[in-house]
Amino acid sequence: PCNVVVLISGSGSNLQALIDSLDEDNSPARIRAVVSNRAEAFGLQRAQAANIDTHVVQHKDFADREAFDAALMEIIDTYQPQLVVLAGFMRILTAGFVRHYQGRLLNIHPSLLPKYKGLDTHRRALDAGDREHGCSVHFVTEELDGGPVAIQACLKIEPNESIDKLTDRVHAAEHIIYPLAVHWFAEGRLRLATQGAMLDDMLLPATGHL
Ligand code: GAR
Repeated sequence: PCNVVVLISGSGSNLQALIDSLDEDNSPARIRAVVSNRAEAFGLQRAQAANIDTHVVQHKDFADREAFDAALMEIIDTYQPQLVVLAGFMRILTAGFVRHYQGRLLNIHPSLLPKYKGLDTHRRALDAGDREHGCSVHFVTEELDGGPVAIQACLKIEPNESIDKLTDRVHAAEHIIYPLAVHWFAEGRLRLATQGAMLDDMLLPATGHL
C-alpha cells in the first residue's frame, strides 16, 4: 500500500477521519507516522491509540525555518512515504520542503479556494456576506494555499448562521473529502499534472454540494 506520513498541529480530527477510513486490511494506504510541531497536540494521542508512530519536532527548537524543515524532512523520509498529508499543520513550509515533496504533498484548507487563503476563513466568509463556504483539498506548491485543488465541498451558509455552527459544518465536510482524496491518490488515480490536479483523465476540482 501507499505509505503516508501525516503532519498535524492540533486536534487531529482530520487525522482521525483518515485513520478511520484506512481501517481495513485491504485499504489502499497506511499511515506510517504522525509528526506534530506541538507536543500537546491531541492528534498525537489519536495516532498512539491507532498504533501509529509519533514524532514531535518543535519549531521553537530550531534557529530558522530551513533548519526546522530539514529536521521534519529527515524524520518523514525515514518512512519513505509516497504521500505526505498536512492535516491542520499550522506552519508555513519552505520552498525547499515543498519542492522535495512536489506532487506528493496534500493539504486541506477551510475555504473554497482560491477564496480566503490564510487564516480566519470562516469569519471572513461570514463578514463578506457569502452565501456559500466550504473546504478544499489541494496539492501544495510554493504559493501559500495556491496549489491545484483536487476536491471541494461546498455548503450553503444559513441565514444568521453562527461562526461555531459554520466551523463545525465545514469540519464535518473536511472529514468526508480528505479521505476521498487520499484514497484516490493511493489508488494511483489522483495526480499533479502540468494542467492541474487530475483524477484519472479528468481535470479537477471536483466540487460536491453538501
Ligand atoms: C481544519 O479545519 C483544517 O482545514 C485547518 O485546520 C483545521 C485542523 O483541524 N487547516 C488550516 O487552516 C491550514 N491553514 P483538525 O486538527 O481537527 O484536523
